[in-house]
Order: sequence, then C-alpha cells, then structure tokens
Amino acid sequence: MEIEDDKLPIYTKAQLALRNGQDKPAIWVAYKGLIYDVSTSRLWKNGMHYEHWAGQDLTEELIDAPHSNSVFDKFQAIGKLFKDT
Ligand code: HEM
Repeated sequence: MEIEDDKLPIYTKAQLALRNGQDKPAIWVAYKGLIYDVSTSRLWKNGMHYEHWAGQDLTEELIDAPHSNSVFDKFQAIGKLFKDT
C-alpha cells in the first residue's frame, strides 16, 4: 500500500524507544522507515509481541514472523523514522 508519507512527522530512534508500551501509553513500531501506532492491538499489549518489543525498528525481525507485512494494513503510519546512518 503506497501512502502519502511525505507529510508525516519524523521521529528519532530515541523518540521511538519511548513508545515501547512501558514508558508512555503509546505503542509504536517501525517497519521499513514508517512508524505505526499499534496501541489498539491486543497482540501488542504492554509493547510485547511474541518476544519482540515495540519502540524499535523491527524490519529485519519480520522476516522470521509467521505472517507478512500485510499485518500493518489496518494500522495507520503516524510518522517516519529518522535515518541516522
Ligand atoms: C516470531 C515472531 C512473530 C510471531 C510468532 C508473530 C505472530 C503473530 C500472530 C499470530 C499474529 C495474528 C495473526 C496474523 O495476523 O497473522 C500477528 C499479528 C501482527 N504482527 Fe506478528 N508475529 C511475530 C513478529 C512480528 C514482527 C517482528 C512484527 C513487526 C515488524 C509483527 C507485527 C505484527 C502486527 C502489526 C500484527 C497485527 C496485530 C493486530 O492485528 O492487532 N509481528 N503476529
């Protein structure tokens, strides 16, 4: 799904890390440069999802998941991850 993401706010890894379901109520996950808000998901309660923590870029980890990236279709990208490398 191609979305219009050029207007999305940019967040750093440090800002993303605070939305891990522990420090703040928000639960965010980054995938391929976009940040998704998964706070409403029962499967990401407290920021934990099958041994994966929210608040991070989990692009590489999705390769080992039993599902594709279509799981993000129902979530809205709320920001972009700042590229520091
Ligand atoms: C071994 C690791 C993982 C396991 C066992 C796992 C398992 C599951 C299962 C069983 C579901 C619900 C059924 C489905 O949609 O297929 C699900 C949903 C989801 N997964 Fe994973 N997953 C893993 C890793 C990941 C990773 C690394 C990400 C992020 C990059 C991710 C993101 C999601 C999202 C966003 C949903 C949708 C949640 C919802 O609809 O409420 N998963 N996962």
